[in-house]
Amino acid sequence: MRRIYLDNNATTRVAPEVLEAMLPCYRDAYGNASSVHAFGQEAKGLLDTARQRVANFVNAEPNEIVFTSGGTESDNLAIRGVVEASARPRKHIITTRVEHHAVLHTCEALQKTGVDVTYLPVDSEGLVNPEDVRKAIDQETILISVMHSNNEIGTAQPLREIGQIALEHDVYFHTDAVQAAGKVRLDVDEWEADLLSIAGHKFHAPKGVGALYVRKGTRLRPLCFGGAHERNRRAGTENVPQIAGLGAAADLAVSELEKRSQTIAELRDYFENEVFRRVPEVALNGSRASRLPNTSNLRFERADSEALVINLDLEGVACSTGSACASGSIEPSHVLLALGLPIEQAFSSVRFSLSRYTTREEIDTVLEILPGVVSRCRQATPVGARLHART
Ligand SMILES: Cc1ncc(COP(=O)(O)O)c(C=O)c1O
Repeated sequence: MRRIYLDNNATTRVAPEVLEAMLPCYRDAYGNASSVHAFGQEAKGLLDTARQRVANFVNAEPNEIVFTSGGTESDNLAIRGVVEASARPRKHIITTRVEHHAVLHTCEALQKTGVDVTYLPVDSEGLVNPEDVRKAIDQETILISVMHSNNEIGTAQPLREIGQIALEHDVYFHTDAVQAAGKVRLDVDEWEADLLSIAGHKFHAPKGVGALYVRKGTRLRPLCFGGAHERNRRAGTENVPQIAGLGAAADLAVSELEKRSQTIAELRDYFENEVFRRVPEVALNGSRASRLPNTSNLRFERADSEALVINLDLEGVACSTGSACASGSIEPSHVLLALGLPIEQAFSSVRFSLSRYTTREEIDTVLEILPGVVSRCRQATPVGARLHART
């Protein structure tokens, strides 16, 4: 059976170009980038190249890039780093209800240490109102953290307006661009971002590597201490092969981004239009106008999303009920609830996410399979069986 992968917001396939860039680091350039000898300098050269590439990817300077283990660490370093570096007696953070758990759970942990956190609501498309951000700022606010694009529904936030408000109020602005990276152009200056998180595995680099952009002059306390790596911001011997892969993936994205986004968006739109034509009672979750080009979160009324995902998987199609980190959870998606959906509708929603490897032929195969699966699930499984199992 041919398998079709439409879960690229969970993770992506490593691009051959990326693998090619990594292999020599394991075979030959295995030195420690901090060593003074030739082996070390060779590794340092690879690190410098990757740093330049990632900087170029987000429109920053190389010395503003800190390599990390991925999105979760980047988000933690940004938020905890700013909070712990601040000497203020009272500290306040503004974020939103639709952030990834890497941000939400970090904020919740900080609340337990006495930090105040405002979780802003979103509208029915998942958009934050910049005026709500402005109104939430008070004397104690030290950080605004609003994601670029949502991992479940793809909604892209008005970052330019929010960044401008942060700048006017002299508050640090962090954006989690983990899902946006490799799908749309990233520009820290356009958004006045002081901190921006990315993770390699969402754009065809391997898992376990990412980066945090830190604007020059930003006060940040490291999460772990040790050597002077990464300009004292992230101690530990650099993972040169993975970082070289991250740099190659960034370069690949920069070189083909416009065409990549357009091709994927056309395919996604074709998929959506055909689903609406072939399957009754389907609705889109999120914003049609302001969203990632690859994401389609669809609500199949009266069909249970977990049953849909399992039955599609049995037919060779991989998709998801939402965030991979939350899968297996019996709780409804916090993102869909924040849009105002009732629990039954949150439990009827499935995310399809495409990549540069998705083909028209694959989409056509999914379109043939989907109507039958939806109809079977509607007949067989009560929506929210998970919900009832809980009570
Ligand atoms: C928006 C967002 N932020 C953060 C993360 C966490 O990234 P990582 O899995 O690299 O730790 C993810 C991963 O799904 C994400 O989608």
